[in-house]
Amino acid sequence: MSRLSIDRLHVGYGSTGVLTDICIDIEAGEILVVVGPSGCGKSTLLRTLAGLLTPTSGQILVDGRPITGTSGERALVFQDDGLLRWRSVRRNVELPLAIRKVSKAERQTRAEQWISQVGLKGYENHLPRELSGGMRQRVQLARTLAGTPRVVLADEPFGALDAQTRTTMQRLLVDVWQQHPTTVVFVTHDVDEALFLGDRVAVLGKNGRLKTVIESPAARIPDADSKAARTEILGAVAA
Ligand SMILES: Nc1ncnc2c1ncn2[C@@H]1O[C@H](COP(=O)(O)OP(=O)(O)OP(=O)(O)O)[C@@H](O)[C@H]1O
Ligand SMILES: [Mg+2]
Repeated sequence: MSRLSIDRLHVGYGSTGVLTDICIDIEAGEILVVVGPSGCGKSTLLRTLAGLLTPTSGQILVDGRPITGTSGERALVFQDDGLLRWRSVRRNVELPLAIRKVSKAERQTRAEQWISQVGLKGYENHLPRELSGGMRQRVQLARTLAGTPRVVLADEPFGALDAQTRTTMQRLLVDVWQQHPTTVVFVTHDVDEALFLGDRVAVLGKNGRLKTVIESPAARIPDADSKAARTEILGAVAA
């Protein structure tokens, strides 16, 4: 897992600025959740962390080294599961291992371990279309983690799921993260999701500036009372 240091970051598209003067350090093994109004630049921030966008100015250091482009060490996870439709669950999960030229036997063993870890044992040979939305997100999670990324960048991955499946996926993510810690930057619109998952919650303003960073005292404790932090986040988002 890596430490990320975002230093006076400005990012835009052409001459239009989106993110302005973002400074934040993300500790190795931390879950940092990013919230903010639609269009404020959350996805832009994740794409920049992934190395898909180049900052206008400022920089991002990963373990002290500037980002120069994309890397398998920083994995993006989306709302759309991004699975290959013609490949079975097993062959989707094997993908990051195949890219790294891991031998076929080891690929299979490791894919099976991850499939079982996300609760999909028995579905190895199913195609994505034969699974529910929640199950496909489990496959995406297994595939992402099979690549043992040092940073996971998640852009509203559970945004399209029903409330119950979403809660299940949040707990699954925490379970897996506790067993295989990695640095996570997680974007969401849902303040309760932010409080449950995040060690800290960064609030971006409409103007693309970082408004505040709030500690989440009840992080990862199911049904914990985090009323004060909740009120603080809602206040910051609305202000
Ligand atoms: N490829 C692009 N080219 C030009 N402008 C873009 C591009 N992608 C995003 N933008 C603009 O940048 C701003 C930030 O977009 P971004 O997708 O980062 O917001 P967001 O916070 O993720 O929003 P949402 O919550 O709706 O997902 C918006 O004004 C958007 O129109
Ligand atoms: Mg977005």
